[in-house]
Amino acid sequence: MSRVSLGSAGVLATAVTCAAPLVVFASVTSLVPARTGGFGEMTCHQCHSNNPLNDLAGRLALTGVPDSYTPGQRYLITVVVARPQLVRAGFQLSARFESGDNAGTFHPSDDRVEAVPDDAGRITYAQHSPTGADAAAPGEGTWTLEWTAPPATLQVVFHLAANAANGDGLSRGDFIYTATAASRPAAAPR
Ligand code: HEC
Repeated sequence: MSRVSLGSAGVLATAVTCAAPLVVFASVTSLVPARTGGFGEMTCHQCHSNNPLNDLAGRLALTGVPDSYTPGQRYLITVVVARPQLVRAGFQLSARFESGDNAGTFHPSDDRVEAVPDDAGRITYAQHSPTGADAAAPGEGTWTLEWTAPPATLQVVFHLAANAANGDGLSRGDFIYTATAASRPAAAPR
């Protein structure tokens, strides 16, 4: 209700310098793609930049990524970001081959997660949905999703960035965490 309608694409384009008081008009409701920290991407820290990256008072866990995957199989993946004073939270996750190409498919387990392609439609990111940013428990943001392994026999790397946010509705005062994981193809059956 208090959301300001800018009504001008020009304003949005010029706001891309983070020095502008309005900062960039991307948010919990419209997360920009490609901020996982992998493959030369920036992280959420581009805008949520007050605090150091990976501050020791919090933690980020990416669980369920199999050490080795079977093509076509589904794996349950859980993301947990925790920190005292966390009120809201968010994440963005990619699964890519070392070539950079998208690897496999993300399936949200519920409406707290969404799978969103980048502008070029090349990489699909799993991330918190607009309704999935509230803390699942005090001090903790948790999301679950499934990943269908690709029909390939190449190593897959996961890149994750998450925000342990203070809930002030701004990009200020938040803590950003990053994590990675790798999954290699199971030995091909004879
Ligand atoms: C291009 C700038 C930008 C990037 C990059 C960005 N955000 Fe934000 N984010 C914002 C702004 C601006 C807000 C506050 C306005 C709003 O929510 O509409 C915000 C708000 C949030 C909030 C709510 C904060 C609070 O305290 O209430 C969460 C959670 C969040 N972002 C998660 C993320 C995550 C996770 C990433 C990285 C994967 C990310 N953001 C990357 C600009 C950005």
